[in-house]
Amino acid sequence: MNLKSLLSLSLIGLLLLSACQPTPAPTPSATATSPATAESAPLYLDATQPLEARVEDLLARMTLAEKIGQMTQVEKNSITPEAVRDYAIGSVLSGGGGSPTPNTPAAWAEMVQAYKAAALETRLGIPLIYGVDAVHGHNNVKGATIFPHAIGLGATRNPDLVRRIGEVTALEVAATSVDWDFAPVVAVPQDIRWGRTYEAYSEDTALVSELAAAYLTGLQGADLADPRTVLATPKHFVGDGGTAWGSSTTENYKLDQGVTEVDEATLRAVHLPPYQAAIAAGAQSIMVSYSSWGGMKMHAQRYLLTDVLKGELGFTGFLVSDWGAVDQIDPDYKTAVATAINAGLDMIMVPYNYQRFITTLTQAVEEGLVPQARIDDAVRRILRVKFKLGLFEHPMGAPELLPLVGADEHRALAREAVAESLVLLKNEAAVLPLSKSVSAIHVGGAAADNIGLQCGGWTISWQGQVGDSTPGTTLLEGIQATVSSGTAVRFNRFGKFETNAEVGIAVVGERPYAEGVGDAEDLSLDPADLQLIQRMRKTSDKLIVLLITGRPLILGEVLDLADAVVVAWLPGSEGQGVADGLFGDAPFRGKLPFTWPASMEQIPRGQGKGEPLFPFGYGLTTP
Ligand code: BGC
Ligand code: BGC
Repeated sequence: MNLKSLLSLSLIGLLLLSACQPTPAPTPSATATSPATAESAPLYLDATQPLEARVEDLLARMTLAEKIGQMTQVEKNSITPEAVRDYAIGSVLSGGGGSPTPNTPAAWAEMVQAYKAAALETRLGIPLIYGVDAVHGHNNVKGATIFPHAIGLGATRNPDLVRRIGEVTALEVAATSVDWDFAPVVAVPQDIRWGRTYEAYSEDTALVSELAAAYLTGLQGADLADPRTVLATPKHFVGDGGTAWGSSTTENYKLDQGVTEVDEATLRAVHLPPYQAAIAAGAQSIMVSYSSWGGMKMHAQRYLLTDVLKGELGFTGFLVSDWGAVDQIDPDYKTAVATAINAGLDMIMVPYNYQRFITTLTQAVEEGLVPQARIDDAVRRILRVKFKLGLFEHPMGAPELLPLVGADEHRALAREAVAESLVLLKNEAAVLPLSKSVSAIHVGGAAADNIGLQCGGWTISWQGQVGDSTPGTTLLEGIQATVSSGTAVRFNRFGKFETNAEVGIAVVGERPYAEGVGDAEDLSLDPADLQLIQRMRKTSDKLIVLLITGRPLILGEVLDLADAVVVAWLPGSEGQGVADGLFGDAPFRGKLPFTWPASMEQIPRGQGKGEPLFPFGYGLTTP
């Protein structure tokens, strides 16, 4: 039997079940304590019943194994659809680069639907929730619209734009039958040497709170049950942006997964408010951080997870662990699992050995290390969100939207975002905007004609990649499409030109990275980039330096060498937006979302370190 017929059979089965059977009246007899008999339709399948009644009805029918299955999240490369059925698994994810072959939107939908169909075949037919990191568009999917990374959106200061990006990202995600996005990152990075700086909107708590809430609202829409919306996940709770250099115990990492060495008042003032904003905006799931605070891994923090987040802040959704983070709590796996669940974790991103996790948690419950009530609370929280998402009514997402993945109107929005994200640091003699009819333009630097470099990490693969990884418009193509027919545009990746040009554009900056791999001791511009700029200075009447980077870099003499300096961050697939800024089709409006240091001594930011090169909020404007 092929997937489609299997799918429709199980769907039809469910429908028949609820349609042909008499619906039990909402009397006390149909409540949690008295599960419906075999003859009556299960109450939890009746969408007209109140949410809590459906949750309690379903919970009362579940065995311990089924409950633990709901708490288990497995990476798709470690599990088959058959195993999802046999172990009654509640969630599957694609990690960074967790794509099907071929990597097309249709193949994604098919892959996800196979897991979902398997979940519907379980005894209770509880729908699966499938998660991805769509942190700048549906970024694992070849052909999806890739938006600027969050740092660029921070520069726009435009919550409405950010909300619309969330909306469009949700459409592309839902089109592939995925229901859950591990975004927004609501970290408030205090040290830009952190490899996740670009995943965050700003060093400023208030700006992060505002934009994260806007993005979450876009992803989740007015109604979570609308199949065109997806579940958002603010992450990583809490203090991930406040770790100390060298405190990470993860091999080769320095800041990422390290220790947030601040007192509770600072933790609450700097790092907690974005969660309050996200909860107010309707957050239903939150991911816990790899980092530690107060001598303890966040995944073991009952005080912060249960007392503060679920108690004081009133978070009613569920907490998901980070990738394998539970294993870091204690060398003894049973202790690690019991500690995490007792601390308040509801779903565990295992992500590999789900059999071990299931066996271990089962033992822990049987031995009384984890109370049954804690399991029930976790499952209730997960089921509640599954009901809210309408998964029991439409478990397959919105595959009818597949033609919208990478659609022109989505790319137009990304282009708009790119233009708004540009920050103009220097503009000597108003050299920008450029005239479209100059006789010759030299464009130098590898990143000028390279989709992979302009997209950065978390694009097609976890660490990102160099080259033609996904369709889009390179910066060079954007420039070529903008200038007059009489303008000669010459490109050399090393910035080596024989002749002179009225305008030179040197594109320099960082190469792709993700997470702790990007923790960097020295943020000075690469010496090869500096040489390229020096070379192009000699062959350009006016020299524009364009930075493709995930964070501020130490510019040194670049500021003196260039007539204009533009920060384009990691703009994503729509390079035309950069040309829109350079040639005046869009004004420069972007403001620095991070303080721009003059030297490494000013990092991490703090008092008494002298004047930065450019303060937070800096950015020249053009008409
Ligand atoms: C990252 C998370 C991400 C998860 C799943 C982890 O390594 O810290 O941000 O959601 O992997 O890809
Ligand atoms: C996965 C990422 C994950 C990372 C954690 C990678 O292999 O692709 O999604 O965040 O591992 O270490």
